[in-house]
Amino acid sequence: MNGSTTMLGKRVVVTGGGSGIGADMALAFAEAGADVVITGRRSAPLEVVATRHPAITYAVADVTQEDDMASLFDHLGEVDIVIANAGAAESAPLSRTELDQWQRMLEVNLTGTFLTLREGLKHLRDGGRLIAVASTAGLKGYAYVAPYCAAKHGVVGLVRALAQEVAGRDITVNALCPGFTETPLLEASIATIVAKTGQSAEQARAHLQSTNPSGRLVQPAEVTATALWLCGPHSGAINGQAISISGGEI
Ligand SMILES: NC(=O)c1ccc[n+]([C@@H]2O[C@H](COP(=O)([O-])OP(=O)(O)OC[C@H]3O[C@@H](n4cnc5c(N)ncnc54)[C@H](OP(=O)(O)O)[C@@H]3O)[C@@H](O)[C@H]2O)c1
Repeated sequence: MNGSTTMLGKRVVVTGGGSGIGADMALAFAEAGADVVITGRRSAPLEVVATRHPAITYAVADVTQEDDMASLFDHLGEVDIVIANAGAAESAPLSRTELDQWQRMLEVNLTGTFLTLREGLKHLRDGGRLIAVASTAGLKGYAYVAPYCAAKHGVVGLVRALAQEVAGRDITVNALCPGFTETPLLEASIATIVAKTGQSAEQARAHLQSTNPSGRLVQPAEVTATALWLCGPHSGAINGQAISISGGEI
């Protein structure tokens, strides 16, 4: 299989493509021959990623806004692969979790995935691929991130249900469930731990790494490789799955 042509002619949308896992996916799909559209709320990071490959373009769109997602896909027309990757993680003990924090986490991680998949599906060609970047937090609990865990569990449920609806069109939809992955989101989580516990950044990082049985952080490229595989020629029977990418954490 020639890695530079496996996605030739495919149109791919990656939400949250301006950084971290989404940026890595955008570059890899572009290098594999796809035309890639990345989205996010801030244009500056999107522009930086788009300058790294001529097959990447960008659009500013907030996944929590129904109008943004509808006009994004209406403007794009037919697509082959939609990756609902945008997300955010805020932390607090449940007893100190305000309603607006709960709602923010559900909106970006769960409602944002719903709107991305629903609007993407309207424009998806038969044989297309839908992917949601959930988390190991969609499969198990972690302390101090109950709204994030609830939202990511919801993403896994959404994917399992949708898989039953789309299988007849040779469309698949799967959830990727990375453990702690080396991205800006993780750096923000480490900064929060440092601010709230007085631990050093090294201690906080070591603690997060220790949750992975292999004792290291997951790399964005490992999540990307799974997405490429799901969009490859022999993955059509993988549908409705929540795939843990966590060194055996779960
Ligand atoms: N890093 C980890 O340890 C880890 C582990 C498991 C799962 N994940 C999941 O992986 C996904 C990607 O996260 P990451 O680690 O790569 O973090 P990241 O670098 O912070 O990326 C998140 C992206 O989502 C975008 N975004 C946030 N809110 C948005 C909104 N309302 N509308 C549109 N875009 C929005 C951000 O861009 P703007 O701010 O410009 O909008 C950003 O580019 C997330 O779903 C996250 O939950 C991460």
